[in-house]
Amino acid sequence: MEYLEITGGVPLIGSINVSGAKNSVLPILAASLLTEEPLELDNVPHLYDVTTMMELLGCLGANITVYDGMHIAVQSKNIYNVNLPSDLVRSMRASILTLGPLLARVGKAKMPMPGGCAIGQRLVNFHLDGLTKMGAQVKIEDGMIIAEAKASLKACHYHFDQISVTGTENLLMAATLAKGTTFLTNVAMEPEVTDLIRCLNMMGAKISGAGTKELIIEGVEELSGTHYRVLPDRIEAGTYMVAAAITKGRIRLNNVCASTVEEVIKTLIAMGITVRQGEDWIEVDAIDSDHQGVDIVTAPYPGFPTDLQAPFMALNALATSPSRIDETIFENRFNQAKGLNAFGAHIRIDGNTAIINPTRAFKAAEVVATDLRASASLVLGALAAKGTSRIYDIHHIDRGYECLEEKLSHLGANLHRVLDVQREQA
Ligand code: EPU
Repeated sequence: MEYLEITGGVPLIGSINVSGAKNSVLPILAASLLTEEPLELDNVPHLYDVTTMMELLGCLGANITVYDGMHIAVQSKNIYNVNLPSDLVRSMRASILTLGPLLARVGKAKMPMPGGCAIGQRLVNFHLDGLTKMGAQVKIEDGMIIAEAKASLKACHYHFDQISVTGTENLLMAATLAKGTTFLTNVAMEPEVTDLIRCLNMMGAKISGAGTKELIIEGVEELSGTHYRVLPDRIEAGTYMVAAAITKGRIRLNNVCASTVEEVIKTLIAMGITVRQGEDWIEVDAIDSDHQGVDIVTAPYPGFPTDLQAPFMALNALATSPSRIDETIFENRFNQAKGLNAFGAHIRIDGNTAIINPTRAFKAAEVVATDLRASASLVLGALAAKGTSRIYDIHHIDRGYECLEEKLSHLGANLHRVLDVQREQA
């Protein structure tokens, strides 16, 4: 077990590159199951979840070549196994994304219910209902999803009762090889969904409506390989934007897609923070500036992203005025509040609302990370706090932030990772 030791209170200054998007590359890797030909990917982030997805694909029969940290090729010519290993599936929600492609390509799959960050119920009923509507037989026995399509999947009209990112991705991947034209309505419009569609269309799929609430997918006989560059990670970008603001520093982000973080930029500007931007760069300048609290309501894209709610809670906690955050997507996504309060924040949780009364400064503390974005929030808290803090259970952060220590050190942060020998032996 490892912990991060951070001595905060230093304004972060400099420029860094944003990595490829975790939540784009995971569905795109799953899409490699739809073709016999190689799918070559650039801008692949080196993350724990990406390794898990590569291991999963490997267990199914895919050949994976890693050319360097950011460029990989996956070829799923022969899929000889459709029983997904429980440990890998349970460690990551995105493992459910293999279900649609497997049913479309080989007509069978067996997997446990997927795991992932403990931020709410995280049901998969839309995935299973949609695939059933496409003609698959899907049952759940002893906690295992057992799915089979005796003939090719058939097109359908599926309306999502609630917007689901991976639900949209799973059904749209399955529909690419289904017979006929599928209509998916009330779909997710997240940039990661659009990125997947762009990649699938380059593989020969016929999908229209990207970035809107309705997708039309004309099924094709087969898909081919392609070479694709993964979109920059808007959540990583947003986290470093908050890092600049919370440490009263100045950070320039390169390799970013500014149009995917418009709502985040608007929120920072409403707080009184200076943001400059080009198409592929953003600079947040908060040198010597105070910021005010801003009320936030999370919403599906293009609304304020639930994944940045935890980082912004840390920033709101150090504002000059009170604020509230309403979390509308997940039922249990305020896990960071306890740790932030240990730094001296005044955050009270009332159901899905966080009421934040600001404090002028954070003090160092020992806190425990509970999920990916909550961990990022605690790192931000520690960067703002005077003194040396420790953050335990940081394996969560390795799931979604590439080279966190290197990037923060490059910006002048004082932090290092320590192997916790005592906890390791306990
Ligand atoms: N939902 C259902 N039934 C379903 C699917 C979803 O009721 O079949 C509900 C969920 O319980 C939740 C809501 O719908 O209340 C939205 O869930 P969604 O399916 O959109 O979430 P997800 O696809 O599991 C993805 C990201 C999350 C991100 C959410 C929301 C990936 C791999 N994960 O999750 O990312 O928070 O969309 O934008 O794309 C993260 O990166 O830290 C992370 C959790």
